[in-house]
Amino acid sequence: MVERLSPPDPAWEAVDRYIAEHLLGRDTALEGALAANAAAGLPDIDVSPPQGRMLHLLVRMANARRVLEVGTLGGYSTIELARAVGPTGSVVTLEIDPHHAAVARDNLDRAGVGERVEIVIGPAVETLASVSGPFDLIFIDADKPSNVAYLHAALRLSRPGTTIMVDNVVREGEILDAASADDRVIGTRALFEAVAAEPRLTATAIQTVGSKKWDGFLIAIVD
Ligand SMILES: C[S@@+](CC[C@H](N)C(=O)[O-])C[C@H]1O[C@@H](n2cnc3c(N)ncnc32)[C@H](O)[C@@H]1O
Repeated sequence: MVERLSPPDPAWEAVDRYIAEHLLGRDTALEGALAANAAAGLPDIDVSPPQGRMLHLLVRMANARRVLEVGTLGGYSTIELARAVGPTGSVVTLEIDPHHAAVARDNLDRAGVGERVEIVIGPAVETLASVSGPFDLIFIDADKPSNVAYLHAALRLSRPGTTIMVDNVVREGEILDAASADDRVIGTRALFEAVAAEPRLTATAIQTVGSKKWDGFLIAIVD
């Protein structure tokens, strides 16, 4: 998620809490993962609980059994993805930081889904070359300047019908700033251009507000 300085709108946070209380319920594995992340000094840039559950639901809607994630952090989103693929499914998740990967490994094992998750450590532009597809769903949530490279890798690792999702594509509206010097904005604007130019993709992007502020997901399906 985003790491900008402005605080989230209190009403957006309150609605996220309302959604979580009513629809998500208490979840000791996910809550434990966030606590372990904080204790280990990881940044608080995971997807929010409602967003994590949305990823879970999308995996199940797509009946996805093989999922690829780019950007593990402490494995919060990975737990939701791994639960969704079920005991016979698998998740490959790519992470550059060995400390993040070690925290994620513990969190995934404690959540009881460790056996269905492979964590590949290294720069994703390099490790993607060693990953075998096709995947049913691919979730991209790492360094934003590499988004176009990740999209091209995702296409290579796809089949017709694969869902591709990319997080943080609105960035509090900064995505509109064609003159931005922020390489995350530049990388995300380049992603929009690349998706628009790709005839194999049907795509949209959805704006979101909540505890992670104003942002959004790009979602595409490979035709
Ligand atoms: C936004 S966090 C991922 C959050 C996670 N998907 C979740 O919602 O729980 C981005 C992660 O990508 C990792 N990352 C950054 N650059 C990377 C790269 N070049 N290759 C692989 N991972 C990278 C960061 O270390 C960080 O852990």
